[in-house]
Amino acid sequence: MFLFSFFETAMTIFWAILQLALIILIVPLTLYGFIIGAPIFFSPKKGIGEILAECHVKPGEKFYDLGAGNGRAMILAAKKFNLDVYGFELSPLLVLIAKLNLLLCGVKKSTIYLKNLYNEDLSNADIIFCFLTPKAMERLRPKFEKELRPGTRIISYAFPLKDWQPKKIIRNGYPGNMYLYEKS
Ligand SMILES: C[S@@+](CC[C@H](N)C(=O)[O-])C[C@H]1O[C@@H](n2cnc3c(N)ncnc32)[C@H](O)[C@@H]1O
Repeated sequence: MFLFSFFETAMTIFWAILQLALIILIVPLTLYGFIIGAPIFFSPKKGIGEILAECHVKPGEKFYDLGAGNGRAMILAAKKFNLDVYGFELSPLLVLIAKLNLLLCGVKKSTIYLKNLYNEDLSNADIIFCFLTPKAMERLRPKFEKELRPGTRIISYAFPLKDWQPKKIIRNGYPGNMYLYEKS
């Protein structure tokens, strides 16, 4: 009886500490993502597939999702186009969900980082995918110009890259345009 009540109290305290730690960690980082990057919305799978088909990808090329959300673009890129997928996400909860989604969808080779996309070196990417905000695209533009190799494709859902000429724009039943650019 004594052991049981000790165990029960210990579990209650453990669960309370865990919840507090999760709130302390997740809430500020999620809010931070909202403020400096983009809120949590998901891009249309159909559009991702259509624009990736225009990229003439080679299996094994590196696909970077900047602000990976729940991992849906990474899953599609890996499963349908055989790409090596990398995601950068600021919200720990979404990183966890994306990891689970990738696992459940049977994507064997994937990496998702709990990191601020603005601080990452993008020079190894072959294809970059973004669904962010106009402000975020403006902030990324000089980074793309400085870091990306010639031939790197950039896909942006909904928000164009100022002063860059898109190679292709697709809108096919989803709310925003899919923009495709290629670094010269
Ligand atoms: C509009 S959602 C897009 C999610 C996913 N890429 C998709 O297309 O379905 C934008 C994501 O970017 C994340 N994000 C915003 N700012 C970020 C930053 N600076 N670094 C990493 N992730 C960021 C947000 O947490 C959110 O999950």
